[in-house]
Amino acid sequence: DDVLSRTSAIISDLQGLEGPLLPILHAVQDTFGYVPEESKPLIAQALNLSRAEVHGVVSFYHDFRSHSAGRHVLKLCRAEACQSMGGDAMAERVKSLLGIDFHETTPDGAVTLEPVFCLGLCACAPSAMLDGELHGRLDEDCLGELVAEARR
Ligand code: FES
Repeated sequence: DDVLSRTSAIISDLQGLEGPLLPILHAVQDTFGYVPEESKPLIAQALNLSRAEVHGVVSFYHDFRSHSAGRHVLKLCRAEACQSMGGDAMAERVKSLLGIDFHETTPDGAVTLEPVFCLGLCACAPSAMLDGELHGRLDEDCLGELVAEARR
């Protein structure tokens, strides 16, 4: 099947690297938009790891997702500077506007909400990223606009 053969190709390309697990997982996610369940045993076998170890790494790093994302990905910064500038309230507001929790996608497939740990925009906290574009100093108004943009 396509997932298996493409995963195998990625593995054979990157297996020779020192510390190949993360590069392989990144390449798999770039290819499929997420890390498919079927890819994990192949990766585990190639790198002499248990499936649980591969699974653990995928769930530990917030960069990886286990399901395909919606058309837009909205990432909210959950790290300290943003937390101290109202990040929690911001997260609650976005969750209720979208009707989903972190790591979920709206039922219409428009938006996936993900936490991220520092976007490097701490001076402009609280911050978020929509489809790779950074937004800082979010107040309730910009947040509403951002969510509306994401829903399109
Ligand atoms: Fe949020 Fe750094 S803590 S951008």
